[in-house]
Amino acid sequence: MLRDSIQIGLLGLGVVGSGTVAVIERNREMIEKKIGCPICIRRIAVRDLNKPRLIQVDRRLLTTDPNEVLDDPKTDIVCELIGGVEPALSFVMRALKNGKHVVTANKEMIAKEGHGVLEEAARRNLDFQFEGSVAGGIPIIQPMKNALAANRIEELIGIVNGTTNYILTRMANERADFEQVLKEAQQRGYAEADPTNDIDGYDAQYKIAILSSIAFTSRVDVNSVYCEGIRKVTRADMDYAHELGYTIKLVGVTRKVDEQTVQVRVHPALLPLAHPLASTNDVYNAIYLRGDAVGDVMFYGRGAGSMPTGSAVVGDIIDVCRNIMLGATGRVGCTCFERKRIQPIEEVITRYYIRMQVADRPKVLAAIATVLGDHEVSIESVVQKSRAADLSEIVWVTHEVLERNMRNSLDEIARLPVVKSIENWMRVES
Ligand SMILES: NC(=O)c1ccc[n+]([C@@H]2O[C@H](COP(=O)([O-])OP(=O)(O)OC[C@H]3O[C@@H](n4cnc5c(N)ncnc54)[C@H](OP(=O)(O)O)[C@@H]3O)[C@@H](O)[C@H]2O)c1
Repeated sequence: MLRDSIQIGLLGLGVVGSGTVAVIERNREMIEKKIGCPICIRRIAVRDLNKPRLIQVDRRLLTTDPNEVLDDPKTDIVCELIGGVEPALSFVMRALKNGKHVVTANKEMIAKEGHGVLEEAARRNLDFQFEGSVAGGIPIIQPMKNALAANRIEELIGIVNGTTNYILTRMANERADFEQVLKEAQQRGYAEADPTNDIDGYDAQYKIAILSSIAFTSRVDVNSVYCEGIRKVTRADMDYAHELGYTIKLVGVTRKVDEQTVQVRVHPALLPLAHPLASTNDVYNAIYLRGDAVGDVMFYGRGAGSMPTGSAVVGDIIDVCRNIMLGATGRVGCTCFERKRIQPIEEVITRYYIRMQVADRPKVLAAIATVLGDHEVSIESVVQKSRAADLSEIVWVTHEVLERNMRNSLDEIARLPVVKSIENWMRVES
């Protein structure tokens, strides 16, 4: 299709919007050669015209009226870089209804409302791309939808939240406490003033819901993704994990259970130090997956930030522009053509780490081991340390066991008179 130019409208000029503009300006010549046509940023909607910006833009491009982007007949592609569900969702639907292709980095909107948006785009033969929504600069959505499309994915494990990974890395390396590291992360801008979304796992929950839907070609309702954050991880857990040959990471796990069932969960987990994800440190993200044809594949890089996420957004823009040039838009739409069951967490089979404080007396270990045995929980290793005159700490790592059995055994153990407290328990990934 012969074109003079492709016109782009932006909603948002914050961290990602600025990175998007900066990447286009830095590499414009090469990008336009790749597309075969000039691209033009036509309008940028923001909330506040007078706010200082991370990059210099022609002030005449800015508007506080998103409709100037959404209703402009000359705009071909709308980039939604605002975030949250509303008004972003309404803006995206309006853009599609007006015949515009959409690129977004909005994980929350896609995880909660992606299905309807993708259906609308497909009905109108429009592109809707969202590479920047998961793991920032790391390409994972396009690779799964294209280069890895021939595979049946068997499992995917990701470290997809930079804030929690930074906190856990510092806790591990400096033997620091969670609260202290969180405070410093906030001071350095690695954690938000309200860190709930990251710390309690919701950000990772959105991302793993998106990745699982694509990996297993079946829509995953974000509310069905089991989610635990990192607040309960202590320095003591980190120390024991290291002593036993593990580290602790916030992981998103999605795995094929059988042809009709998948597992999707987010929680802190012990990973063996030799695991490919164990050395993903600081704000870095990594995603490991296994396909039936390709085998093991690992993606690693910057999971957030202005330029890395701008790289993903502009990659999507280039893809859409190429489709426009070839008259081939709407080529790859929603790939969720199956309806699979999400396995409830109680049915998950995995290994567990348990830390408890008990009376320092003979036969205590045997009493607890009996309860574990009654619930078919078998022990792989145990460490016991005296903590005070009459108190000791016991750490168990189990073999694989049904989570329901694990929980039932812990309920019973907590009621034993010799047990002072169950301090923590976490899943162990192999
Ligand atoms: N930050 C990252 O590293 C990162 C990484 C991956 C994905 N993402 C996703 O990218 C999206 C944007 O994140 P961000 O970090 O760039 O956010 P941000 O820095 O807060 O920027 C949001 C932008 O949207 C504008 N905006 C908000 N409401 C608006 C409205 N009603 N009309 C017009 N403009 C509006 C804001 O305008 P003003 O500037 O005038 O306030 C601001 O420019 C989110 O979905 C986020 O989850 C972010």
